[in-house]
Amino acid sequence: MSAPWVRIEDLKAHIGETVTLKGWLANKRGSGKVQFLHLRDGSGFLQCVLGINDVDEATFERCKHLSQEASVEITGLVKADERAPYCQMEVAVKGLVVVGEAREYPIQKKGRGGGDDHDPGFLMDHRHLWMRERRQWLILRVRATIIKAIRDYLDDHGFLLVDSPIFTANSCEGTTTLFSTKWFDDTEAYLSQSGQLYQEATALAFGKTYCFGPTFRAEKSKTRRHLNEFWMVEPEAAFMDVWQDMDLAEDFLSFIVQKAVAKHAAEMLDIFPTTPEEKTAMIAHIELLRGVEAPFPRISYDEAVTQIEAIRAETKDEEQKKLFDIHWGMDFGSPHETELTKRYNKPIMVHGFPAAVKAFYMKKDPLRPEVALGFDVLAPEGYGEIIGGGQREDNLELLEKEVERHKLDVSTLGWYFDLRKYGSVPHAGFGLGVERTVSWVCGLHHVRETIPFARTLDRIWP
Ligand code: 4AD
Ligand code: MG
Repeated sequence: MSAPWVRIEDLKAHIGETVTLKGWLANKRGSGKVQFLHLRDGSGFLQCVLGINDVDEATFERCKHLSQEASVEITGLVKADERAPYCQMEVAVKGLVVVGEAREYPIQKKGRGGGDDHDPGFLMDHRHLWMRERRQWLILRVRATIIKAIRDYLDDHGFLLVDSPIFTANSCEGTTTLFSTKWFDDTEAYLSQSGQLYQEATALAFGKTYCFGPTFRAEKSKTRRHLNEFWMVEPEAAFMDVWQDMDLAEDFLSFIVQKAVAKHAAEMLDIFPTTPEEKTAMIAHIELLRGVEAPFPRISYDEAVTQIEAIRAETKDEEQKKLFDIHWGMDFGSPHETELTKRYNKPIMVHGFPAAVKAFYMKKDPLRPEVALGFDVLAPEGYGEIIGGGQREDNLELLEKEVERHKLDVSTLGWYFDLRKYGSVPHAGFGLGVERTVSWVCGLHHVRETIPFARTLDRIWP
């Protein structure tokens, strides 16, 4: 009988047994007498050792000339070995079958052991192959863990998943960043910037709901934080005010971060750093992540402006100073967020932004109408905004005024006004961007690595 097919992630339960592995050759080194085959099977990486006397001569010869990414089936004995790379196990090969040969692989193993020496454009051009590499493999697995944690948290806290549509006639986050197409009757249809407006309807029907899907923004920003297609989770609850919304956001984010750390900290430390300095930094980063628990510091916008003014005053470099220019009424840019969060070792929640820089649906503070009852959660270590949310305007007249002020198409908003006509209640919610969260948790430089296939200003392929 042939040996059972086992995936690398399940191999620990098979030490001392002969198994079959199916995967690809991630790397190979060796001599005329012994070959070390680094196999990846999607669930993990493993070293397989093939001695000249372990298989017939033809198989050994063929193996010597196999290229990176050739697909193979290996039968062998699973052994525990403290010194073995990847997973402290290795497989002594007894048989090997080549399933598919590989041509010369475009992503070459360079100094950093994984294709990192290629320039980012080249790697993004080869994203469909690049994602096989170990570092990318880990990032996308952290993403999956974070997505599961998001769903688990909301499902277990009484939020019902009610999907928002992707095609919509409404602009939620400003008319300047809409991707549009023509609907059948020749009216404009947009790709959703946010599922929020529909979540306000579903929250009033089901109490607490969330949507989780791709969202689209035609932002012409070429920054390390912006994608044109990104995934957002948006919980919304009836009878919730902005303060309860902030309580929810900090508890939710802490849960997600702790799930990711519990599952991936060891791998992150093993795979991400490539120098001793990076290793030290990763240890500190993971320590910081472990400390992410409620309560988060809450800072009013007014206080944040004062802090940024102080940072600006301390800055000597004139160019830098310009980046920190601020006055009450201005929205924060990345430099402001980055500097502000560097002073904290937890995410911070900035609330009470000027209403004029926020979206039309934000409720204004009745005691200070120039201020919106909204908040942003800014991640530490310079990552900036990962959550935006707040309380919604529940008064029909005030909402209509804002719609007019923002010059929005009233004819498409009748349904949204209905929500204020039939039992309007205080309600609130927020949106968390998955890619920015994954980027921060993994300690990455750019969000493009956190989504399987990034859509950016100059890229709609692969
Ligand atoms: O702050 P934003 O624009 O808020 C909304 O869309 C609200 N309607 C959400 C709500 O209250 N239901 O976006 C929310 C989050 C940001 O904090 C950020 O994490 C992410 O979405 N985000 C982006 N991520 C990547 N690329 C972009 N271009 C992003 N724009 C926003
Ligand atoms: Mg925002």
